[in-house]
Amino acid sequence: WLPSDNMHHQWLLLAACFWVIFMFMVASKFITLTFKDPDVYGVKQEPLMLTAMTKVEKIQVPEEKRLPEESQNKPTGKVISEDLMHQSLVHVKRIELLSNVCRDTALRNLSHTTISKFVLDRIFVCDKHKILFCQTPKVGNTQWKKVLIVLNGAFSSIDEIPENIVHDHEKNGLPRLSSFSDSEIQKRLNLYFKFFIVRDPFERLISAFKDKFVHNPRFEPWYRHEIAPGIIRKYRKNRTETRGLQFEDFVRYLGDPNHRWLDVQFGDHIIHWVTYVELCAPCEIRYSVIGHHETLEDDAPYILKEAGIDHLVSYPTIPPGITVYNKTKVEHYFSGISKRDIRRLYARFEGDFKLFGYREPDFLLN
Ligand SMILES: *[C@@H]1O[C@H](CO)[C@@H](O)[C@H](O)[C@H]1NC(C)=O
Ligand SMILES: *[C@@H]1O[C@H](CO)[C@@H](O)[C@H](O)[C@H]1NC(C)=O
Ligand SMILES: *[C@@H]1O[C@H](CO)[C@@H](O)[C@H](O)[C@H]1NC(C)=O
Repeated sequence: WLPSDNMHHQWLLLAACFWVIFMFMVASKFITLTFKDPDVYGVKQEPLMLTAMTKVEKIQVPEEKRLPEESQNKPTGKVISEDLMHQSLVHVKRIELLSNVCRDTALRNLSHTTISKFVLDRIFVCDKHKILFCQTPKVGNTQWKKVLIVLNGAFSSIDEIPENIVHDHEKNGLPRLSSFSDSEIQKRLNLYFKFFIVRDPFERLISAFKDKFVHNPRFEPWYRHEIAPGIIRKYRKNRTETRGLQFEDFVRYLGDPNHRWLDVQFGDHIIHWVTYVELCAPCEIRYSVIGHHETLEDDAPYILKEAGIDHLVSYPTIPPGITVYNKTKVEHYFSGISKRDIRRLYARFEGDFKLFGYREPDFLLN
């Protein structure tokens, strides 16, 4: 073929990849027949599969957001290898996208941060199984913490952990990475399995707003009595409005390029709304897996498997429907907020959208 015939080249590459996958599937059928033990089967697959995966990396495979109906009919038995392969491909693509966006100099200020004490405070350590977990609120973090507390051995099952202990890191046997010396921190960052969970950045902000300023179920009065008045004083446009913090005020605060002086006053409470970049330093720390809340039904078991702990613990049951992205809700919250304020908000969170493959919310911006 002509040297300029790029398409032809790509089709050949694609065909070659399908051939590799096909051969792998034939091989996996053979292995199933040979070793009836499903555990042996699972263990044998992985290295093979990842070899096949690396050959496919160059081809654009759009990451699907699978619907919960699909994940409920989990394929079992013979098709399990295809499911695993799909999962691995999704995660290989996520990490690849992340490292590409990290290298994008135009987004540098939005994707990079320093591994500060603030970041090290967000990361929890399970030494027994060599796991680091970066906490990103509003994506089922309490459940992950419970899983790790059980693994560290302070309690023998998730049900036995008292609610008030989950976030009490003096008593729950789940240390923060910041509590170690510099060399011990470095060692763990280099060697351990590292993960965190993200969700659509705007939906996350809505969730944080509702949880902290509207419902406040854990009775944390400082959100309404200290933080909300602080935001209202500086960002409320309508001076005759007397209701508590409105989502519009919150958006104006978050989108203000000079938000930092208020952040400093709010202390660590800002973890509920600062960017994932600021919380977990995803371009500085080489995370092994990044779970998505929208596909948690698939991602949670995948993370347990990759961390090598799936035989020890399982992720608590996820109530149906709660992980699905709800565009209607997002539109509802942003209706009545000026395009200028929404664009400023997006300008701050663009790094989170791009790094984790969330689509730009053009229905709000244009
Ligand atoms: C990034 O931040 C630095 C310092 O805050 C600033 O000088 C630079 O212009 C910013 N770059 C971009 C692309 O915004
Ligand atoms: C300001 O808030 C008051 C009270 O909620 C409302 O009646 C009024 O319409 C608002 N004004 C504007 C310009 O939005
Ligand atoms: C999406 O959010 C809207 C408004 O909050 C709610 O009425 C609706 O039930 C939600 N849809 C789903 C599928 O959860």
